[in-house]
Amino acid sequence: MRVNVAGLVLENPTILASGIIGETGESLLSAFEAGAGAVVTKSIGLEARKGYSNPTLVELPFGYLNAMGLPNPGIESFGEEVLLAVRGGATVIGSVFASEAEIFAQLSSKMEAFGVSAVELNLSCPHASGYGMELGVDPGVVREIVLAVKKSVTVPVFVKLTPNTHRIIEVAQAVQAAGGDCIVAINTLRAMAISIEAGRPILSNIFGGLSGPAVKPIGVRCVYEMYDVVDIPIIGAGGIETWQDALEYIMAGAVAVQIGSGVGRRGLRIFKEVNSGLERYLKSRGIESLEDLVGTAHA
Ligand code: DHB
Repeated sequence: MRVNVAGLVLENPTILASGIIGETGESLLSAFEAGAGAVVTKSIGLEARKGYSNPTLVELPFGYLNAMGLPNPGIESFGEEVLLAVRGGATVIGSVFASEAEIFAQLSSKMEAFGVSAVELNLSCPHASGYGMELGVDPGVVREIVLAVKKSVTVPVFVKLTPNTHRIIEVAQAVQAAGGDCIVAINTLRAMAISIEAGRPILSNIFGGLSGPAVKPIGVRCVYEMYDVVDIPIIGAGGIETWQDALEYIMAGAVAVQIGSGVGRRGLRIFKEVNSGLERYLKSRGIESLEDLVGTAHA
């Protein structure tokens, strides 16, 4: 079930999403060996960051609410982790976050030097001041960042977008106009939970990002809307736990899917399960290639 995502050829359409077990070379490799077609690193910044204090994660019946605070070791120390995964044979996509275009460009160029096959710009973390979605809701800012990164790397540039805006279409168009190679939709939704015993918000950061099955219809809607207006490939993400979920995203217009919370909720076997389900579906319908199903929900 080989798929071509902006020139990047993957053995299958399932990708480990950023933020779940993407902190070390070993864990990236374990997801790839479990059957992911590619793996995305935890978002990496210029300097080391400890992240927020606990609690950083709330498990809900329908997904996760998290606010880690972009913890990471800084780009210089992350090189060895990427190298380990790449040497082990994994196709690695390097996720980066920054507060301005030039730093995005610098981080992306380092990631390329470490050996990643693509970079993914985090323009969508829903709760870190000065980062992520604060930039990713503004088409002008998105354009400037993508332009700067495109000048600094030769690998494909993926841009992960936030659903926390009414301007997602304009943002997607800005990514394409600036030469971005692929859109990843969606990141988590800004959300919160309150402990009624303590009478206080549960997360130390108060606000976090909601992921998991609860957000799937929103992700599918975003992919469907964007597919009508952009020509670059879209990777679907948000609440995928079964091959049927993946197929829904593909029919909406996604060429591949990312799985994050699904790995936490179901384990690493999820990649093989989704892939074998999709293969069985193609076979039973006599469909040659998954690409024949991309966007077929559009009349
Ligand atoms: C974090 C970053 C994200 O981009 C996101 O969607 C959720 C959480 C974080 O590190 O806190």
